[in-house]
Amino acid sequence: MSDITTVILAAGNSTRFKASKSKLVYPLCGLPIVSHIFNTAKKISGKNILIVCNDKNKEELELILNTSKLVVQKKQKGTADAIEQVKKYVKSKNILILFGDTPLVEVKDIRKLVNKFKTSKAKASLIAFNTLKPHGYGRLLLNNKYVEEIVEQINLKPEQKKINLCNSGILIANTKLLFDNLKNIKENKIKKERYLPDICKIFSKKNIPINYIECKEETMLGINTLEDFNVVQNILQKKYIKNFIKNGVNFLKPNTCYLSYDTKIEPTVTIESNVTIKNNTQIKKGTIIKSNSYLEGSLIEENCIIGPSARIRPVSFIGMNSKIGNFVEIKNSKIGKHVAISHLSYVGDTILGNKVNIGAGTITCNYDGKKKQKTIIEDNVFVGSNSSLVAPLIIKKNSKIGAGSVITKNIPNNSLALERSDLKILRNKRSK
Ligand code: UD1
Ligand code: CA
Repeated sequence: MSDITTVILAAGNSTRFKASKSKLVYPLCGLPIVSHIFNTAKKISGKNILIVCNDKNKEELELILNTSKLVVQKKQKGTADAIEQVKKYVKSKNILILFGDTPLVEVKDIRKLVNKFKTSKAKASLIAFNTLKPHGYGRLLLNNKYVEEIVEQINLKPEQKKINLCNSGILIANTKLLFDNLKNIKENKIKKERYLPDICKIFSKKNIPINYIECKEETMLGINTLEDFNVVQNILQKKYIKNFIKNGVNFLKPNTCYLSYDTKIEPTVTIESNVTIKNNTQIKKGTIIKSNSYLEGSLIEENCIIGPSARIRPVSFIGMNSKIGNFVEIKNSKIGKHVAISHLSYVGDTILGNKVNIGAGTITCNYDGKKKQKTIIEDNVFVGSNSSLVAPLIIKKNSKIGAGSVITKNIPNNSLALERSDLKILRNKRSK
């Protein structure tokens, strides 16, 4: 919509969040809090987005939101002051204001707001929501169907504390009218900040109509504290998992699992309990992820069995019909088809062929103290239990490694490699 510039306010101090850096760069399901609303804003006004940031979070936000114009608000003098910083950059007829700390907002709700704004005589429209826990939010005072005033928590009179209709912070307005009146917003006496919602009182006194639409509370929640963060994260997790279940993914205990925003799972996959899936992991048809497994930045092909208690680290690829069992860690490795690594192993910086069997307790010794070294294990190799494979190393096709070996040289194909001292049996010599 080319007649709208979206402004995202992201200059707050995050005081209530009690973190060492801006709450807005904190990952929410793997994506910075601010990126959630940024991605939504892109769907409304394309590249026409301005971010108001502060001196401290500018660099980080620039890295995260690399396509946007950032404007610094030097002192955090409130949301009205923050909007004033972008005055000279807003060229479009209308301005849409979003808060960086409300990540669950849905595109369809903003479209509904824009539609209401454009089809009514109002010069500003906002999104409100009803909640049983209004504490902390600005409350709407109405005159018929129009907004007369928004009263912030600290200014509420006792009887106003019962109002459940709250300001979401999302506002669209005629650009000129907003900036013409913004300067009349005075500093709040208690907080020493200038509040953007005070624009409502100024407009209504001048008979400039402001209306509102009401949206679901769940999508309007703001993150001020870590407690809020937790509530929002649980809502997002439930949403992701619900969508997968609808699509045919079977979660045995959905409430115990964690997914990131970019997790991809195909229908007919089963996910057991306490599974964590992060960093752009993809799981293909028919695979089972058993309990307590931790998967990051990897692609798991069709019909694999992973876990219980397996760890798959970035960047790994697990080929079709392979089995990665309990207490197995795979890191930066490509595993072929029909491979079995069933128990207690570490496979790192390795390329493994098809139909390879890795016995229990096998370790690829990939670190020589200075550098990570590669291991290549070709098709049909059988590695006996408790072997140490010292990289760099190539074990060629169809070879077998005897249990308990320490392999330090390349092994040719069709060979048996053993590294073992002779077993001595001394009769009747058992120490007493
Ligand atoms: C704000 C609204 C409140 C609404 C609630 C919804 C005000 C005064 N109050 O309260 O009516 O119910 O959001 O979640 O607007 N920010 C700046 N510069 C500043 C201050 C804040 O950029 O000087 C940014 C923050 O980074 C944040 C947003 O503006 O993204 C909102 O500020 P915050 O302090 O969180 O306001 P709330 O108290 O949540
Ligand atoms: Ca807030």
